[in-house]
Amino acid sequence: MPNVTFSSPLHKDKTIYAVAGSHRQTILELAKANHIPIDFSCGDGECGTCLIRVIHVDKNKKMGFPLTEREVTVLKDLGKITKAQIEEMAVTDVCPTHWRLACQMVLRDEDIVVEYPSR
Ligand code: FES
Repeated sequence: MPNVTFSSPLHKDKTIYAVAGSHRQTILELAKANHIPIDFSCGDGECGTCLIRVIHVDKNKKMGFPLTEREVTVLKDLGKITKAQIEEMAVTDVCPTHWRLACQMVLRDEDIVVEYPSR
């Protein structure tokens, strides 16, 4: 079970012992279920409102979790990912940036810190 710590300068940090493995639950869904006030709007990877910064607690156990196509589009528009990073991801299949969209990032079996709001 991964530990997901939500961290914000506006709220007290909260660590959730999450159930991984469904490959369906997003960070936004986990946040909502645990009353973490991450901003969101469309819920569908189009507006960028749910921008978060994700840090892996154990850098040696980092698992691959590439960006979705919608994340790539929005992060490019927001200037949070470069063309070189997108090309790198195509080769390594590993996310090349700490920036994610909470409504698109699916929880994996890895301990992470989610920083919000990130604007
Ligand atoms: S809520 Fe719109 S991109 Fe996540």
